[in-house]
Amino acid sequence: MIRIKKKKIALLTLASLLVIVLLVAGIVILKGRNNASEGIVPTGQVLTPNIIPRPVEFTENSGYFKLTRKTFIYVNGNSDSETEEIKRIGTYLADILMPSTGYPFKVIPSSAPKKGSIYLTTKNSDPSLGSEGYKLEVTTDKITLSAYTTEGLFRGIQTIRQMLPAEIEKAEVVKDIPWVMACVNIKDYPSYSWRGMMLDVARHFFSVEDVKRTIDLMAQYKMNRFHMHLTDDQGWRIEIKSWPDLTKIGGSTEVGTGDGGFYTQEEYTDIVNYAKERYIMVIPEIDMPGHSNAALASYGELNPDGKRVKPYTKINVGFSSFMCREEITYTFISDVIRELAAITPGEYIHVGGDEAAQTPPEDYDYFIGRINEIVLNNGKKPIGWNPFDTSSGTTSEAYLQYWNSEITAALDKNMKMIISPPGKAYLDMKYNMSFKLGLNWAGYIPTDFAYQWDPTNYAPKESILGIECALWSETIDTMDELETLAFPRLPGHAEIGWTPKELRSWEEYRQRLIPHAKRMECQGIDYYRDPNVDW
Ligand code: ACM
Repeated sequence: MIRIKKKKIALLTLASLLVIVLLVAGIVILKGRNNASEGIVPTGQVLTPNIIPRPVEFTENSGYFKLTRKTFIYVNGNSDSETEEIKRIGTYLADILMPSTGYPFKVIPSSAPKKGSIYLTTKNSDPSLGSEGYKLEVTTDKITLSAYTTEGLFRGIQTIRQMLPAEIEKAEVVKDIPWVMACVNIKDYPSYSWRGMMLDVARHFFSVEDVKRTIDLMAQYKMNRFHMHLTDDQGWRIEIKSWPDLTKIGGSTEVGTGDGGFYTQEEYTDIVNYAKERYIMVIPEIDMPGHSNAALASYGELNPDGKRVKPYTKINVGFSSFMCREEITYTFISDVIRELAAITPGEYIHVGGDEAAQTPPEDYDYFIGRINEIVLNNGKKPIGWNPFDTSSGTTSEAYLQYWNSEITAALDKNMKMIISPPGKAYLDMKYNMSFKLGLNWAGYIPTDFAYQWDPTNYAPKESILGIECALWSETIDTMDELETLAFPRLPGHAEIGWTPKELRSWEEYRQRLIPHAKRMECQGIDYYRDPNVDW
């Protein structure tokens, strides 16, 4: 009896001990969970909605918000005109969500969003978010996107898109998809104010439609600068009404045997406005004094012997130059810049300045000084590629676009810089030896290599305005080819410009990039399935 009782007591004690152990373990686990859901996801840990660029502060909570036929978009600003602009942004969001869901997404100006809705607002928002930052709160009841500016709302909308299933990007109705997004709290803002892409439309011409698609593709990664390389040896792509042969003759060629093409001023304005609606500034470039053969082929008076040079359709560089000591050159450039400035609402005009191998150094120095003055007199800030900064006429009012290693002059003059290292950020470099398109003079750039750089590797942080990836078009002339070179490298450059260096690592990024393959497929992007990414 006693023995049995003892055994019973021992068993009971063991059982109680087990209960206590389980309880304590449970509390510890729960506490751990709470901590995880309250804290910011640590660096290195993969974010599950796979957002690119990675947001600065991110907390995932339990539960989901679900889009339904009754999800409306409520918009509210600090003034009638701001509410009107937010309504436009709400309509932009609705236009993305409607085709795949088939839901109506009515946009309603109101400060009282109903349960189940999306609310976009600048009311009572935090000035520390700056001009592009936003806060996103997703609960089971509501999505609230707030920003200090309407631009911040536009950037935040790109996050909402990426938190939904990839099929949201499809152009036709997709049935049987639960349109859910995780409950989160996000506070996000960019590291750099300049996050750009350059497209060379001179070596091969790209239509207005292609350019608009490129702008849309950039916008989803929160990029905000679209640099158009409008002129080069092989083609002149922008109508200048006072010098019509520029487009009549200079616009009629491109690399190879194609017919070239050009944008009328009205078409260019259409592009600028399209970009502006996506909070992207267009920066036009007229490359000079080198890279000028298309202009020299259009007008005899721009040449020493008074005769037009032959059009050029191959891909060498460094053989052409404007006459730097003849006033006709500056009459011409003044007309070009005046007309271009008049149709460019952005603050900048890019004047090239690279690879002027036929221009004697003292003439280059003088020429760059003169064109800086012309741009400034037209109310714009000049930007140039190296060695533009070395001219005695270049001051801190101008910006350097870094593409080769010498920045001493820019630093001495306190010039701000846009960083475009060819061995990392030139999208026309081949991914690898067996890749068909592109060039390799700056090396091969697989996707992982393209992601692993920081602008501070090239210049001191305080001098850096931001980054730009560049797509030169010697070897491409279709949108599919453009996409294959740009994707999947472009989203990585967008992240380098947006996300702080400390929050970035290839190991973590690649796990967010892989699910983006489906998103790219849903958008019909002809991306390269780089074998360096384990898709
Ligand atoms: C350049 O790559 N020539 C700017």
